[in-house]
Amino acid sequence: MIKKRLVAEMGDSKKYIYRIVAVQWLAMLFGAAMVFAVGDLLEKLIQGTCERTDVGFAAGASLSAVIVRAICSVLQEKYSYQASAGVKKHLRDKIFRKLIKTGTSYKEKIRTAETVQVTVEGVDQLETYFGAYLPQFFYSMLAPLTLFGLLCIVSLRAAIVLLVCVPLIPGAIVAVQKIAKKLLSKYWGEYAKLGDNFLENLQGMTTLKIYKADERQNRSMNAEAERFRRITMKVLTMQLNSVTIMDLIAYGGAALGTVIALSEFRAGRVGYGGCFTVIMLSAEFFIPMRRLGSYFHVAMNGMAASDRMFRLLDMPDPEPAFGRIDPDRTGIKISDLRFGYEKDREVLHRINIELKKNRLTAITGASGSGKSTIAMILMGRIKNYEGSVKIGGMELSEISEENLMDSLTYVGSSSFFFKGTVRENLRMGKLYCDDREMWEALEKARLADFLREEKGLDTRLSENAAELSGGQRQRLALARALLHDSPVYIFDEATSSIDPDSENEIMDMIYDLAKSRTVLLITHRLMNSAGADRIYVLKDGKLAENGRHHYLLKKGGYYSELWKTQQELENIGKGGRGHEKR
Ligand SMILES: Nc1ncnc2c1ncn2[C@@H]1O[C@H](COP(=O)(O)OP(=O)(O)OP(=O)(O)O)[C@@H](O)[C@H]1O
Ligand SMILES: [Mg+2]
Repeated sequence: MIKKRLVAEMGDSKKYIYRIVAVQWLAMLFGAAMVFAVGDLLEKLIQGTCERTDVGFAAGASLSAVIVRAICSVLQEKYSYQASAGVKKHLRDKIFRKLIKTGTSYKEKIRTAETVQVTVEGVDQLETYFGAYLPQFFYSMLAPLTLFGLLCIVSLRAAIVLLVCVPLIPGAIVAVQKIAKKLLSKYWGEYAKLGDNFLENLQGMTTLKIYKADERQNRSMNAEAERFRRITMKVLTMQLNSVTIMDLIAYGGAALGTVIALSEFRAGRVGYGGCFTVIMLSAEFFIPMRRLGSYFHVAMNGMAASDRMFRLLDMPDPEPAFGRIDPDRTGIKISDLRFGYEKDREVLHRINIELKKNRLTAITGASGSGKSTIAMILMGRIKNYEGSVKIGGMELSEISEENLMDSLTYVGSSSFFFKGTVRENLRMGKLYCDDREMWEALEKARLADFLREEKGLDTRLSENAAELSGGQRQRLALARALLHDSPVYIFDEATSSIDPDSENEIMDMIYDLAKSRTVLLITHRLMNSAGADRIYVLKDGKLAENGRHHYLLKKGGYYSELWKTQQELENIGKGGRGHEKR
């Protein structure tokens, strides 16, 4: 019923749990004192021995009980917040640090969506666990024992019977837990599936409309929603049933208390006051356990989420690397590189590639031949490859992630921009850079003219720069990459989504950059890579050939085949001028 590991995570926040239990306990003691005082008064009233002071005492006890209980309830609320707030922050920090440690290759091990779910929703679900369930757990053990002690003064028999009945509620909780665990995991599965599909359909709405597939998708979502409704109803039924069982035990117990009190009264073992006290306190006996039962259902959700959270936290940390690339030696040598995303499907088979400093090296080949996978390996996002990848003579695995990120710049076919100004987005490339440097980069990326007509560097961008055209977005990405000013640049289909004019201008810029950097150009458009110092041609994850454009054409192999096919398709001379003349 208690997850030790979660409790261990509480650290300093544990003190708030004790405080909550203490104030609840204090409130209960004052409540019991009030019952005793009123019971005593009742006894005296009926016996006719009541004096003014007795009334004053009972009134005083009742008033102070009301005041203390009110204060305790406020304090309980406050501590409950503090108990969960601290540990929530601590857990989020821990997950965050874990992700940082896992580094850029975290996607190899865990899905981004799951990471977000666990960090945001999962941790939030623990609020009830820490703030309500856990303190209630301890209090619901302490309260019956205390009341037992107090009731012993009045009637030992009643106290024993009530105490024996109390464990029936946790017994019921444990029984329910067994059923609930299975049901809840199924419930979460259906919930996540429905959410995933809903989001996917929403994002693909235009496509669904174009292909008139929205009606079909609607029907399938309805079926899914129906399945989710059924499982939700099952969960609710289970919860309501268990609440009913616990209510039966609680109220049955209180009724039993009343019956015992009356029979003790008849047997003359307790007086009027004692009878009143037993009846009133027997309800109190069960209330804490009953409340624990209702918190338990919410806490179960938190516990289910914590399983996923601990799975993330338990992932083994990669060995930290501290090596630094020699800035004067930034050539890259890839030898016998092998890699597969799945165990029995190798995507790269013994690849050997050399990227020289101040040269433009291109990797080309059909779609799916493994080009981007090589880029991901170089960027450190894939770590479990076989073979050797050396930058400036140093093995990739020995280079610290920070140094690698400083030394390499990657520009893909779509880049991400944050909501904010152009200046803020460019700062991501270089934190401390002045307006002059930014304009210089924008000038090189041929975006300066456009921005001057807008609000310059203060031009505001919405999320992912939605107001810019594909070409403008890509030019901005290039300006940001130029500001990063690293010795190695990797362009992976960086011009694939833009118009021929922009494409040619950007290609010019990339060729220019290669005069002073190590540049890797990944493209399936052979026209763009024709001017490269060396072209590596990939075919189904194997290196088919390599050399300069004219050599490969003359050779009449796979490259020249691809070239001819592309020429026919693209009708060269209309689409763009190409780079083969360099
Ligand atoms: N995350 C992934 N999980 C599993 N398989 C993947 C993943 N990414 C790529 N692959 C597979 O690896 C192979 C190589 O993919 P890669 O993206 O490297 O090809 P590419 O040459 O860059 O293709 P394109 O020209 O279309 O960009 C493909 O067969 C692809 O299905
Ligand atoms: Mg690719």
